[in-house]
Amino acid sequence: MTVYLNGQFMPIEEARIPVLDRGFIFGDGVYEVIPVYSRHAFRLAEHLQRLQHSLDGIRLANPHSGDEWASIINELIARNAEQDQYLYLHITRGVAKRDHAFPNPPIQPTVFMMSNPLLTPPAALLASGVGAVSAADNRWLRCDIKAIALLPNVLLRQMAVDAGCAETILIRDNAFMTEGAASNIFVVKNNTLLAPPKNNLMLPGITYDVILEIAAANGIPHEIRKIAKSEVFDADELLLTSSTKEVLAITTLDGKPVGTGKPGAMFAKLHKLYQDYKRDVMRKN
Ligand code: PDD
Repeated sequence: MTVYLNGQFMPIEEARIPVLDRGFIFGDGVYEVIPVYSRHAFRLAEHLQRLQHSLDGIRLANPHSGDEWASIINELIARNAEQDQYLYLHITRGVAKRDHAFPNPPIQPTVFMMSNPLLTPPAALLASGVGAVSAADNRWLRCDIKAIALLPNVLLRQMAVDAGCAETILIRDNAFMTEGAASNIFVVKNNTLLAPPKNNLMLPGITYDVILEIAAANGIPHEIRKIAKSEVFDADELLLTSSTKEVLAITTLDGKPVGTGKPGAMFAKLHKLYQDYKRDVMRKN
């Protein structure tokens, strides 16, 4: 496996960072996950835009232009074996003596990128759906920044795993749904797809955008609005989306069936349209 670190490509075993890297010490950095289909980085411009938003959010200068990112990313894709990959891109504020405040003058950021095979959910999981648990969203108020400081998300996701489930659905202020620990969540009620609005309390998912575009293009009724906690527990269907999971049905919540307890008609429709879109668009652009 070939990775990229600070200007060089190397086997992962040779990639080293100093212990004083602020990513290691403070979680002071941001990241991106970019799916690659047939060696095409999917929605690269949108991922780089979200990266810029995250960098702006932590006041870190972007170390590369769009063209530079594209060339590093394409070389990393070429140096790895699989046709379908997912890229992990990680930037920290760099290596400095431990002090919470930013190094002054600014130092070289650390830039790391790796590629892994993209393993989308197997047929059995698509057929059964996955379980989820709910939990209070106890994260900070800048969840729109794709920060590498993921301890809350790690603890929240582990709650799902401890319950034999795949994801944790997050409820803010005991009142409304934000997203999953590492995914966006959609609610289906009366054949309408409901999505929470993008704001500082959730990560603006690239897959979330794709699903809403697919819904709009195919005449699927959909609404973007605040989703009450009660609507999550009263849903006909629940769906989760992310770059690596694509779209998956959530068939149990806190141990109780969601709707019929089986993946529903909206899931079937969106999953098929997503696969069509992947074949016709993602593998070519
Ligand atoms: N996570 N919300 C959170 C908190 C996430 O971590 C993710 C993705 C998403 C979905 O975003 P997208 O559709 O752009 O993948 C929403 C990635 C996959 C991860 O951390 O591995």
